[in-house]
Amino acid sequence: METFPDISARVEELRRTLAQHNYLYYVKDAPVIPDSEYDRLFRELQELEQQFPQLITPNSPTCRVGGAPQSEFSQVVHNLPMLSLNNALDAGEVSAFDTRVREMLRVDFVEYEVEPKYDGLAVSLRYESGQFMQGATRGDGFKGENVTNNLRTINSIPLQLKGSMVPNLVEVRGEVLMLKADFEKLNRVQLELGNKQFVNPRNAAAGSLRQLDARITASRKLSFFCYGIAECSTENLPQTQSGTLEMLEHLQFPVSKEREIVHGVSGLFSYYKKLLEKREILPYQIDGVVYKVNSIQSQEKLGFVARAPRFAIAHKFPAEEAMTMVQNIDVQVGRTGTLTPVARLVPVFVGGVTVSSATLHNEDEIRRKDVRIGDSVIVRRAGDVIPEIVGVVRELRPAHTVEFLMPEKCPVCNSLIKRVTGEAASRCLGGLFCAAQRKQALCHFVSRNAMDIDGLGEKIVEQLVDGNIVKTLADVYQLTIPMLEKLDRMAYKSAANVVEAIDNSKNTTLARFIYALGIRNVGESTAKELAKYFGKLERLMNADEETLRRVPDIGPIVAQSVVQFFMESHNRDVIDRIRRAGVAWPENELRPQDDKTTINGKVFVLTGTLPNITRDEARARIEALGGKVSSSVSKKTSYVIIGTDPGSKLVKAKELGIAILNEDGFLDLLQQ
Ligand code: IVH
Repeated sequence: METFPDISARVEELRRTLAQHNYLYYVKDAPVIPDSEYDRLFRELQELEQQFPQLITPNSPTCRVGGAPQSEFSQVVHNLPMLSLNNALDAGEVSAFDTRVREMLRVDFVEYEVEPKYDGLAVSLRYESGQFMQGATRGDGFKGENVTNNLRTINSIPLQLKGSMVPNLVEVRGEVLMLKADFEKLNRVQLELGNKQFVNPRNAAAGSLRQLDARITASRKLSFFCYGIAECSTENLPQTQSGTLEMLEHLQFPVSKEREIVHGVSGLFSYYKKLLEKREILPYQIDGVVYKVNSIQSQEKLGFVARAPRFAIAHKFPAEEAMTMVQNIDVQVGRTGTLTPVARLVPVFVGGVTVSSATLHNEDEIRRKDVRIGDSVIVRRAGDVIPEIVGVVRELRPAHTVEFLMPEKCPVCNSLIKRVTGEAASRCLGGLFCAAQRKQALCHFVSRNAMDIDGLGEKIVEQLVDGNIVKTLADVYQLTIPMLEKLDRMAYKSAANVVEAIDNSKNTTLARFIYALGIRNVGESTAKELAKYFGKLERLMNADEETLRRVPDIGPIVAQSVVQFFMESHNRDVIDRIRRAGVAWPENELRPQDDKTTINGKVFVLTGTLPNITRDEARARIEALGGKVSSSVSKKTSYVIIGTDPGSKLVKAKELGIAILNEDGFLDLLQQ
């Protein structure tokens, strides 16, 4: 079929335009046209290629959707082997690396180029005359699999190199990975389709890249970052690793923004610390950082030992994931009767601590992950987040395991269990008859941000409930020194202290009291809103759902919980008894001051230890002036107040350009 010259010119133009927008979107993260316009151009190209198949080329943007499935991958022999890096597991090993490098180079100080260590899989991409010709996995380092068609579907991999500097031949090395957000999305889709869950982004990336049907790879949203050049025909190549990455960036390859040049071993340590703090907020998973001697000439002098370079080392982060075994699945009863299945694990060291149990949240979650007693599981503990089971290693499942079933009766009080319609939670219907709920309710009632009664720890509460000494919250105010003195872990002095703390707690605020009652779905900030809105407890107790819905941030669920709580005559009796025992608060608490203050309406985040005031004091002072305290930094944050060891919140605040104050600055602001 004859092609009109202007059609082939239009096809070329469309390919150039699409490639450019693809680059701006996926590599620069700065699209300039709406998605709908991109789709329109893409469809035009697809239609022209369908009409004039002689114009189809392997690197047309249309091949990114994947073509016909293959029966197997062919093998690729790597011209230059794909080596691995030596690992440094602690600071001593990093120091030893730097010493070795300095000694071999006979210098006092070394310049390093430093990068994240991507937790994905290594690939090699070969370009001839600027065209992407072949892509391969690492395999055993010498031979890998030809995954060219699959790599073509990765939007951030350029298919055609552009510009005057394009080498005749270039082989680029880098890592294919799945962004954390794409991984979560994929697992949500897998769940809806009833397919298996991937345990982590690395496994998902590996599983997606090695699909014989490239259309599946295309649907999985993989990303790519490059970290080096293996072979290149250009004569005057950059003389540094940083220059190499700049060259790759000019050729429109994706290169991490996190790379830096540092000096000496102290530079390496600061970079390690910085990225460790940033680890959580990076869009991809990293398992460490890589240090590379920056000068290529020095790299050549240092050479290789066995299968690893002497000029580079990977400094690993503490593992956030580990494998262990589920010994049992217990059911815990929470303050409001919610039953939480908890996996008891063979203790395992992960994320810097020993983990021996992990919550399984609810029945749906267990079903979704299909966790069974005897299973080998991957446990994850990232940052300060509570440990969770990310998945089961099905290959290691022993024979004859049985599925976990929620008990029909409460394991503590034998009352009936009800699965709430529309919710994942199952609940014990025993209420305060259930000792587990009573214990939790009591622990909550006395806790620091509630009635703040010091000295009534878990062990004491257990004895008070099990011994039927405290049957309702009101009984706390009947406790005497002789009653407490008899308990285990109590003596006269400690009993006297508790009685004094109980007495002191009688002088409280309405917000604290509402929070202390432990109404389902009423946390600290909701309690404050309610106190602020109603001013008097009686008004809150008599409010209907409609009135409650008028309170800022209160929706139908909270409104219903509040009404149900006060409908129970038992709860009203308890409140009455507590008040008769002398618990009181100033009625009609002061409302926040007007808008003239610098604090009113502002959102504060506190991080690190402040030298002179406690967090609770800081929070109280902010709230007294109408400000809010939030636990995480976002665009809505007005100020981040930092103390010593501020952590990742500081990094995030800097990234978002949020005002940062130390204690002095904060106190000045309060004065204003
Ligand atoms: S440079 C001579 N840089 O780590 C090896 N590798 O153990 C040159 N990796 O298979 C590799 N991030 O897949 C290099 N910034 C980075 C890296 C990186 C991850 C992987 C790579 C390699 C493994 C080496």
